[in-house]
Amino acid sequence: MLRPGLPGTHPSSTVGAAATMEPSRPAPTIRAVTPSLLLPQRSSTGPETLAEYRARGGYDGLLRARTGDPTWLRTEVATSLLRGRGGAAFPTARKWELAAAATADQKFVVANGGEHEPGSSKDRVLVERHPHAVLEGLLLAGLATGATKGWLYLIEDMHGPRASAEHALSELRAADLMPFPIEVHLGPTTYVAGEETAALNAIEGKPAKPRKKPPFPGEAGLFGKPTTVNNVETLAHVAWIARQGGAAFAAIGTEQSKGTLLFTLPASVQRPGVYELPFGATYRQLLDTCGGGLRADRRVRAILPAMSCGFLLAEHLDVPIAYETLRPLGTSPGCGGVRIVDDATDVVALAIEIAEFFMKEQCGQCPPCRMETNQFVHILKAVQGKKGPGYADKLAKLAEFSRKKGFCSLIEMAAAPVLSAVSAFALDFAAAAGPAAPAGS
Ligand SMILES: Cc1cc2nc3c(=O)[nH]c(=O)nc-3n(C[C@H](O)[C@H](O)[C@H](O)COP(=O)(O)O)c2cc1C
Ligand code: SF4
Repeated sequence: MLRPGLPGTHPSSTVGAAATMEPSRPAPTIRAVTPSLLLPQRSSTGPETLAEYRARGGYDGLLRARTGDPTWLRTEVATSLLRGRGGAAFPTARKWELAAAATADQKFVVANGGEHEPGSSKDRVLVERHPHAVLEGLLLAGLATGATKGWLYLIEDMHGPRASAEHALSELRAADLMPFPIEVHLGPTTYVAGEETAALNAIEGKPAKPRKKPPFPGEAGLFGKPTTVNNVETLAHVAWIARQGGAAFAAIGTEQSKGTLLFTLPASVQRPGVYELPFGATYRQLLDTCGGGLRADRRVRAILPAMSCGFLLAEHLDVPIAYETLRPLGTSPGCGGVRIVDDATDVVALAIEIAEFFMKEQCGQCPPCRMETNQFVHILKAVQGKKGPGYADKLAKLAEFSRKKGFCSLIEMAAAPVLSAVSAFALDFAAAAGPAAPAGS
């Protein structure tokens, strides 16, 4: 356990969010840990109103962007070194430059809040609690890239976030603060519907399945027009950067990973919920100082930083969280929905659960993805059924064969935790596979 007085931690800022969360999700606490960019301390537990948001400088950036040259904002975002928070960590400024350079009679912008990854609630909590920060970011992204219409993309089970966003939009219209119209669109409640081109298809009224790329959305997105798609957390950061400046954002974090990141802690810790931590903090701080440690008297063996990443062993819990430090360890922060492997976890069963999730959620368009995700489950179940050796090679060959053969990266996302589980927990897998199987075979 870390000592409770970790500099910059404000336990008193806990906000109960149970009343407004969807029934199927764990009731989160929200903890702001200094520096808090996205989850400021508030006296109210409801959605932040326009008046509250304006009182902390909200929409000051928009007012400046509305009157001035949009290159100012693109420069600030480039200085900030902000990377997308939708999982792929793509540099936001680079995406915007491409969209700004595209010539077309119309351009569009989309805030992606289609979060449906098990264990991650950060986007729905952000939209529900701070709809104005997301909407300001969406409007700023639109102004910076020359868009004339925007969409906030949510999924059908997001009743609370949708209500917050619709109310915030009505406040914005009444205050005459909308340089272009924004619609809220609800996609289907599936994982793949959060992929950016699946979201574009859903908005166009088509099945929410990923498109073959290229063309990328920045070239030909919604209705064939250049479209910028950013995650809602990315956009809330943009609103902060427009207000405080790119240099202030870049001053937070590590050398290559800037600003703060939202994490979701599971029900297996004392205080599950959504937390904001700067890059450079550690998973031990997240689990112990924020989450209060494990609920039961258990030992952490490893964590899965997000569903589509590799496992991080307990010996690495003190490594600073950053893209550049986690990559050499075979993982990444992903969307921050943390899962914990403790000494009572059946890791083979966990790998099967993850593989089954991807098998069910893949959309069926690409034969290699269907084959890979089905075969992963088949091979892992054979391990569980003590069917002996050869599983590690088979899994690795399948993943290698399938790599880059899908319309979207789900095909690689499915492979990452499965291959990582087999290598991180080699002895568990060998024991499960039966005496004929040497470790890692
Ligand atoms: C299967 C799949 C599901 C995804 N789900 C989401 C999601 O729920 N929300 C999101 O913002 N990005 C999601 N993404 C990533 C998006 O395609 C896209 O990279 C992101 O919205 C871009 O925003 P960013 O640059 O701000 O991160 C998903 C990608 C894949 C392959
Ligand atoms: S890679 Fe998989 S999830 Fe992605 S489009 Fe192809 S079949 Fe669908």
